[in-house]
Amino acid sequence: MKNTFGNSVAVTIFGESHGAEIGVVVDGLAPGIPVDEDFVNQQLALRRPSGKISTARVEPDPWRIVSGVYNGFTTGTPLTILIPNTNTKSKDYSATRYLARPGHADYTAWEKYHGYEDFRGGGHFSGRITAGLVAAGAIALTALKAKGIRVGTHVARLAGINDRKFENLTEDIETLSNLPFAVLDSGAGEKMQEAILQAAADLDSVGGILETCATGIPAGVGEPWFDSVESILSHGLFSIPGIKGVEFGDGFAMADLRGSEANDPFRVENGKIVTATNHNGGINGGITNGMPLFIRMAVKPTPSIFREQDTVDFQQVENAALTLVGRHDPAIIHRARIVVDSLVALVLCDMLAARFGTDWLGKE
Ligand SMILES: Cc1cc2nc3c(=O)[nH]c(=O)nc-3n(C[C@H](O)[C@H](O)[C@H](O)COP(=O)(O)O)c2cc1C
Repeated sequence: MKNTFGNSVAVTIFGESHGAEIGVVVDGLAPGIPVDEDFVNQQLALRRPSGKISTARVEPDPWRIVSGVYNGFTTGTPLTILIPNTNTKSKDYSATRYLARPGHADYTAWEKYHGYEDFRGGGHFSGRITAGLVAAGAIALTALKAKGIRVGTHVARLAGINDRKFENLTEDIETLSNLPFAVLDSGAGEKMQEAILQAAADLDSVGGILETCATGIPAGVGEPWFDSVESILSHGLFSIPGIKGVEFGDGFAMADLRGSEANDPFRVENGKIVTATNHNGGINGGITNGMPLFIRMAVKPTPSIFREQDTVDFQQVENAALTLVGRHDPAIIHRARIVVDSLVALVLCDMLAARFGTDWLGKE
């Protein structure tokens, strides 16, 4: 399915940036998961733009659940969340209707949908559609937390500035959960935000690297071969607009290591099998080994930039110059991180339901 992902827990997203509403359907969630409305609001607030480092299009996201929840708990039937679009300025997009924004999906959408696509604000390709994932992800994160599983993501690198690495995982994930700009070293975070402002002042944009850690996942989750934990997670993560690379554990850096450096020696600690290091990011043979999952993602700079760019008019099939009007994020990475947490949580719910049964994440 094109807009549906997952097996035991399947997520469907729909909507366009300037359409009436966007939303999400989650099918297969266990019955009995509490729906904490404050937490959903908190997560949506972390995705919402704020200040000059983000787009001026701020949506209040007055979400509502129209199915799958009764008396504050999931029922186990399809859960549907709708979020209206209220702050749209579609006029900004009519003047450049046939001019392909380099790096964006205007031209590919035109080829695929033959001009019937709702192009306004990037339509179905807009980062706006990720709001539904975040609302659903909040419910998934609540279910995981009750099972001792935590997920957290930080901006590990932006415009060449590095955040510190994860150290005390539980504490670090807790700290990140409340931060609008998710970094572990606030000094690095300030420099990153300055770099975003500088890029905006230069009519340009910046990208970076997100790093996710997920703790508390039991060993034995996942499948070999095509449905490996890496395969399923990267399939989901590559769906987030703007993510261009995904690696697990030491990832590409493993290419330069020797086996003696890349292997994670097994040990027994307090009667539990662990590994002394975690170069493999908590996954062996496509299956979790009980160690924390580590994922890194390359997030590209926002394609919509305000300096003049070479492009084409795809209707006239002629070369053109593009100077954009409208509202855009000078960086998407700090907003994408909560989308990543949400997507990882939904995928983990799917894999855990496949392993332990569809009721496992619900009320005991
Ligand atoms: C939260 C979020 C916000 C985004 N905001 C913008 C934006 O303001 N302007 C823009 O051009 N792209 C934005 N993007 C990225 C585009 O949606 C994306 O680059 C585009 O759909 C093309 O997809 P691709 O980069 O994966 O090829 C955003 C992405 C996310 C996840």
